Amino acid sequence: MRNICVIGVGYVGLVTGTCFADLGNRVVALDINEERIANLKQGILPIYEPGLEEMVKRNVAAGRLDFTTSYAEALRGADFAFIAVGTPEGVDGEADLQYVRAAAESIAENMTQPLIIVNKSTVPVGTGDWVADIVRAKQPRPIAFSVVSCPEFLAEGSALSDFMNPARIVLGSTDREAANQVADLHLSLRAPIVVTDLRTAEMIKYASNAFLATKISFINEIANICEALGADVKEVAAGMGYDPRIGKHFLNAGLGWGGSCFPKDVRALAYMATVQGKHPQLLQSVMDINKYQRRQAVLKTREMLGGLKGKTIGLFGLAFKPNTDDMRDAPSVEIARALQAEGALVKGYDPVAMHAAERMMPGVAMCASAYEVAEGADAVIVCTEWNEFKQLDLARIKQSMRQPVLVDGRNLYDAKRMQDLGFQYRGMGRG
Ligand code: NAD
Ligand code: UGA
Repeated sequence: MRNICVIGVGYVGLVTGTCFADLGNRVVALDINEERIANLKQGILPIYEPGLEEMVKRNVAAGRLDFTTSYAEALRGADFAFIAVGTPEGVDGEADLQYVRAAAESIAENMTQPLIIVNKSTVPVGTGDWVADIVRAKQPRPIAFSVVSCPEFLAEGSALSDFMNPARIVLGSTDREAANQVADLHLSLRAPIVVTDLRTAEMIKYASNAFLATKISFINEIANICEALGADVKEVAAGMGYDPRIGKHFLNAGLGWGGSCFPKDVRALAYMATVQGKHPQLLQSVMDINKYQRRQAVLKTREMLGGLKGKTIGLFGLAFKPNTDDMRDAPSVEIARALQAEGALVKGYDPVAMHAAERMMPGVAMCASAYEVAEGADAVIVCTEWNEFKQLDLARIKQSMRQPVLVDGRNLYDAKRMQDLGFQYRGMGRG
């Protein structure tokens, strides 16, 4: 049992804190957002993540998990302080480190005993050293501390199982003893542990996200070629994926990658490269292809309807991917905006992201179900491949639409079946 303070109760912080508590540690999770903490104290979660609510309640009841807005309270008796605050995109694609800086300063001002500061936020290479400098400069009196980089690899929607069954734990530090202590916290997860210096660990995180984004953009480029040549990218990806050197994951062609991480992290890596005088050509193409994928949904719909002005377009799914309520950089937002700019009326439905979506999609009519979205629509675009869209009564959907046009941005449906049902159907890369 160790005493852990987690700073930030967003997707990463709340999952990390709750899972460490579930492993038997004593965790205090802190946030400067008073509403989030007040709600958490009443069992109301700020985010949707499958299984998390039950785990939070169980660990609070067991006395292993607490919430606070006070750094002094959170750091009292803590052996570790995990930084899990946001690092959004700043000017020119550079990561904005204002929240990391504020967290480091507050740690320095409130720590009262030796501490291992573990950085879980995705931060530019060199940030670990910078955090150490901030803490040293801001401490009212010197107290020993170490900084360890421990990048997070969880994906939203499967965060609990990703935490409990990690593919690897990466730890970076110049202080081997501190890294060993953080390794000990993870030993029961039985994952490979990679120990490196700080900068290398920070780079492993960016390189991993950039590689996954590259894989998706690669298959999207292949999809576009498939479409022109009459091949089906779904089958192509399946055929490629059996080769263990290629692997079957992250080869789903469609509207491309969105969310709170790939877009900002690929841009931040490209920015770091550019500042060093390098030309990140591959990363640039990866981003360009991704932008084009979103545009394609609009182009296809326009082409099939012969124009968008005055047409009603429905969106199935709004979140950036299924099993999350996260709307950050969701393709649906850009697609809705482009449709509206051409004079279309847009309506949409998402199983869990409606609340967040309402704020980010002004003018989009929010519906209670996919069936309501289809009602009277000239076309439907599938933006997110939620399970509940997989087995819809498609005959009913077609019946209720003004025109049976369906653009399948996530290749959810069988093209032949859709044609048999009488839809004018277009997927992504299915020639
Ligand atoms: P988030 O926006 O969901 O949550 C961040 C939280 O930090 C917010 O609740 C905010 O109020 C709080 N915060 C901001 N400044 C603070 C301060 N000074 N002190 C205390 N709390 C403060 O962010 P997230 O999605 O959890 O991402 C956090 C970091 O983890 C980012 O660097 C991100 O790139 C990385 N990451 C995210 C994921 C993911 O799936 N979301 C996965 C891996 C890594
Ligand atoms: C991603 C990584 O998978 C995590 O390992 C990482 O920790 C996290 O970013 C992060 O750094 O925040 P996440 O963004 O939650 O996790 O979701 P993914 O499942 O990776 O999907 C990202 C985007 O790629 C989604 O928009 C999804 O629709 C898209 N995608 C994914 C595809 O278009 N095709 C695929 O084959 C896979």
